Order: sequence, then C-alpha cells, then structure tokens
Amino acid sequence: MDKYTIIQMDCLEAMQTLEPESVDLVFADPPYWMRTSGVLKRVEGTDYNGCNDRWDNTFNSFEDYATFTRSWLTQAKRLLKKNGSIWVIGSMQCIFTIGNALQELGYWLINDVIWWKNNPTPNMMGSRLCNSHETLIWAVKDEKAKFTFHYKTAKELNRDTVSESEYLQGIRKQMGSVWRFPVCGGGERIKDEAGNKLHSTQKPIALLHRIINICTNPGDTVLDPFSGTFTTGAAAITSGRTFIGIEKEAKYCEYGLKRLQSCQINIGPIEEALYDVKPQKVTIPDLIANRYLYSEECLFLKSGHAKGTLLGNGKIKLANGEICDIHKGAALACGSKAARLNGFHTWYVMRGNSLISLNKIREEMRSNS
Ligand SMILES: C[S@@+](CC[C@H](N)C(=O)[O-])C[C@H]1O[C@@H](n2cnc3c(N)ncnc32)[C@H](O)[C@@H]1O
Repeated sequence: MDKYTIIQMDCLEAMQTLEPESVDLVFADPPYWMRTSGVLKRVEGTDYNGCNDRWDNTFNSFEDYATFTRSWLTQAKRLLKKNGSIWVIGSMQCIFTIGNALQELGYWLINDVIWWKNNPTPNMMGSRLCNSHETLIWAVKDEKAKFTFHYKTAKELNRDTVSESEYLQGIRKQMGSVWRFPVCGGGERIKDEAGNKLHSTQKPIALLHRIINICTNPGDTVLDPFSGTFTTGAAAITSGRTFIGIEKEAKYCEYGLKRLQSCQINIGPIEEALYDVKPQKVTIPDLIANRYLYSEECLFLKSGHAKGTLLGNGKIKLANGEICDIHKGAALACGSKAARLNGFHTWYVMRGNSLISLNKIREEMRSNS
C-alpha cells in the first residue's frame, strides 16, 4: 500500500468502499454543527472569522446530526481491526451526541481527554466563560479489545505535568487526561492563495503526533474520514504510519496533497515505541544455566543477612528448611504481610566483597545476550 491515499468523497460513501477490519486507528474531527449565525465582532470592532463554514451547517435537527454521527461511526467500527482504536474530537455542541452514539453502537470507552488551549479565542462579548477546551474521546470496538497503548512512550511525551527543569533531570510522569497545546497558528497554519487561513479548524500537529504514537505501531494504518487540512495524514506519515484520508471539499484535498507530498519521515525512539519494548524474559534457571548464578550459593537480603540457599531448579531453601520460589521466599524472609515480593529486587548474592541484586545480575545477562 502507498504511504497515503486521499479520497475526495463524502465519507459515508467512501468508507463503504474500504476493506473491513483494515485500519488500526481512526482519528475523526467531524463537523461540529456549531449553529452560529450573524457576525461576531472583536472588541475593537473587526469581524471575527470563526467556524461558520458551509461544511459545518448542513444539518437540520439534532436527529439529523445524530443519524449522521451513527452512520459514520458504524462504518468506522466496520473498518477498525479488532484491537484498533478510535479517537474523536469535538466541542460542547457535538461531543455529547458523539459520546452517546459511541456507546449505543457498543464501542468501549477508554478515556476522555481535555485539550486545554493555551491561546483560546476570547469570549468577545464577555457574556459567558471563555470556551478554552475541546474534548477527545478514545474508544475501542468492545470491552475485550487488546488495544495498543504505549505507556512509556506516553510518559516520554508528557510535558503537561512535568516542568522543563524536571524533564531535563530525567523526571517522567504518567500522562494524564488534560493536555495543553496552543491552537494551531503561525507558520504551522496553512494559508490559501490570498494569504488567509485555509481552514477554520486546523488542528495542531503535536496533538495528532501524540495520539498516533501512543496508540499505533510503525507501519500501522490510520484513517481520518474528515481530513480538512490533512493534519492527521502529516502526523501519520512523518511517524512512519500509512494514511487514508477522506475529505469532501476539493480545495482541501488539493492543499492536503501538497502537504502530504512534502512530509519527511522522522522516526526516532518515540515513533518506534522503543521505550515500550518489553525486556527479554530471563528466569532464575536461565541465570543458573548461563553461570550468572550458582546452585547452592547463599542468598542475602540487602542488609547483608544470609537468609536462603539457591537450589539448582531455581527455587530457594529458607533457613527454616521451607522450599519455595524467590518471590514467596522474599516475602517470608522479610516478614512481609504480602504473600509475594519481587525476588529479583529483594535477593542479593556476593560477588567479590560486594552484594549485588539478582536484578542487576539479570540486567547483565540481558545486555550480554
Ligand atoms: C473539523 S474539520 C477537520 C479539520 C482537520 N482535523 C484539520 O486538522 O485540518 C472537518 C472537515 O470534514 C469535512 N467534511 C464534512 N463533512 C464531510 C463528509 N460527510 N465527508 C467527508 N468530509 C466531510 C469538511 O470539509 C472539513 O474539512
């Protein structure tokens, strides 16, 4: 398959032409159905050009919008692989309808995420709160889906709850569900021939880069049924994923093609999900067979107290004669309330005049193999 495919068509039609269970991630930024009318003025009197586009105003009623939402979400479910993910972004005007439809259709919700905008459009009239966020919903096809989630990659990408100086010191924290990004602007904002912004709702590429890299693997296929300026495509291609983008407006497809043609693949440890590669499995018998540990050698606690003897089958014999695995033995030797402790971290052996943990010995074998 090509790195990307652009389909200029209504997504309800286009999605029917795609193979079932062929997509690893759907990202969708559907029409908001803003229902705005009249001209909005900035404080200084100039017109504010928000989202008042033709493509956003084609619905006649709630039922009309809900039917449209159920239709494309039904197709998305058909196209997703069994362990695939869907992310949908929306504002207060549409996100509740979308969330309702997802649940009605049997999707299983994983998270809702708040995109907290650093630089939201102010509430011009001062007549209500400044609307400074959008909501994203992450869902999978059903409760049993074994979806991709690169937990440690997400930790690396998390700058929302880690200050610059903490990050430089190597501090990483679990990614939360409130994400801070500026609204797309400056050089990132795509302009038309007249120098005006091409699209009223272009999303920041950093937002898409984050979603794609925590929820897919290199080579996976990403589908966006409402591509707009093809931000999802740009993030997918630069991250080494394959992309299918649907968009009904010819002009957006034309600019989208140029954008995707100019994308440079940029793959590092984040894009390859290297932080999430599981370490090689090494057992106690493996360590004995490879002469990193020895049958009948003494096992110590960190305090230096000898509390057991390692047996040739990888079990431990405690001072009272009880034979068990190293994890149960660790809990018994430490007098822990827990039935098991991590034996690799609890037990030490003597090498030269120093105690060295079984975990360190295991790392040594991993790095040598
Ligand atoms: C909210 S915008 C997406 C913006 C995009 N995420 C970006 O970063 O540029 C929604 C887009 O969906 C397109 N659209 C609306 N209804 C559609 C439909 N039924 N089929 C295909 N595209 C549609 C609109 O033309 C619009 O560009």
